[in-house]
Amino acid sequence: MEDLETLRAEVVAAIAAAPDLAALEETRVAALGKKGRVTALMKSLGGMDPETRKAAGQQMNRVKDAIVQTIEGRRAALEAAELEARLGRERVDVTLPARPARSGAVHPISQTWDEVVAIFGQMGFAVAEGPDIEDDFHNFTALNFPPGHPAREMHDTFFLPERADGTRHVLRTHTSPVQVRTMLNQAPPIRILAPGRTYRSDSDMTHTPMFHQFEGLVLDQTTHMGHLKGCLQEFVQAYFEVDDVPMRFRPSFFPFTEPSAEVDIRCSRKGGELRIGVGDDWLEILGCGMVHPNVLRACGLDPEEVQGFAFGVGLERIAMLKYGIPDLRTFFDSDLRWLRHYGFAALDVPTLHGGLAR
Ligand code: PHE
Repeated sequence: MEDLETLRAEVVAAIAAAPDLAALEETRVAALGKKGRVTALMKSLGGMDPETRKAAGQQMNRVKDAIVQTIEGRRAALEAAELEARLGRERVDVTLPARPARSGAVHPISQTWDEVVAIFGQMGFAVAEGPDIEDDFHNFTALNFPPGHPAREMHDTFFLPERADGTRHVLRTHTSPVQVRTMLNQAPPIRILAPGRTYRSDSDMTHTPMFHQFEGLVLDQTTHMGHLKGCLQEFVQAYFEVDDVPMRFRPSFFPFTEPSAEVDIRCSRKGGELRIGVGDDWLEILGCGMVHPNVLRACGLDPEEVQGFAFGVGLERIAMLKYGIPDLRTFFDSDLRWLRHYGFAALDVPTLHGGLAR
């Protein structure tokens, strides 16, 4: 029994001296583990006679319980101390600036596309699309380009290899073939906006081999040039977000419209800064006109029955003007620095009531 008391005192002292949880665990195993000192004593009970065994057993169990409790107490104390130490060590500096979260940006082409669709959508236009690869009929013939017209031979049209029947398809040189496809497939009244890619073999500050246009077509029994002017006036003011933009219709020529006009808007270039709607310079922004009777006929419509207008606008051109982008070629360089600089927040979807661009 004296042994038992010594054992208890020694184990309790070792527990109290354990500096950390690992040392405490070692102490526990040395006492209570399979080969521990207390376990060994318990095993010795087997060799005792029943009377002695009962008394000794009770005492041993008491000692064992005391040891277990001491270990638990020490463990709780060590854990609390460890937590205390960690809290002291690991401090969060809430005054540090947040790490910037890199997010993607909407390309100025997509942004401008969405803005234009929002504006014309509000005016009741539906979006129409057509293929990038067109045949001669849709890109030229139906649009009243006569057989020998220079545009057909133009060094800046991309022709595809000759086909079995001797014809050659083209990469569409404008979005006007979508007018033709729409008139062939749908009866008037028609009110469509056709945004899309167009191609011409050209490359400098203001020309790239691929660029975007959007085409407008309105066709019914009464639409006249006054409607064309009102519609474009509305568009220009909404797009440039300026209340009043003086416009000028300059007589021009397109095979597929008659009369045809090019539209200029008022601007100022004072101090190297372009401002829309003020000043005394003019800026050309689009081509338009009344749909030519020959185009209507080519699409199976009677010019005595229907009439309307069409317009075509360069998407990059108006994006460059609105967002101050000097070189067209940079739109297609995929330079990340450029994209981050000129890009738009992905969740700022352009709407007329919410504001087109922020
Ligand atoms: N298709 C013409 C071009 O690419 C633009 C245009 C469209 C002009 C519709 C008038 C009417 O230059």
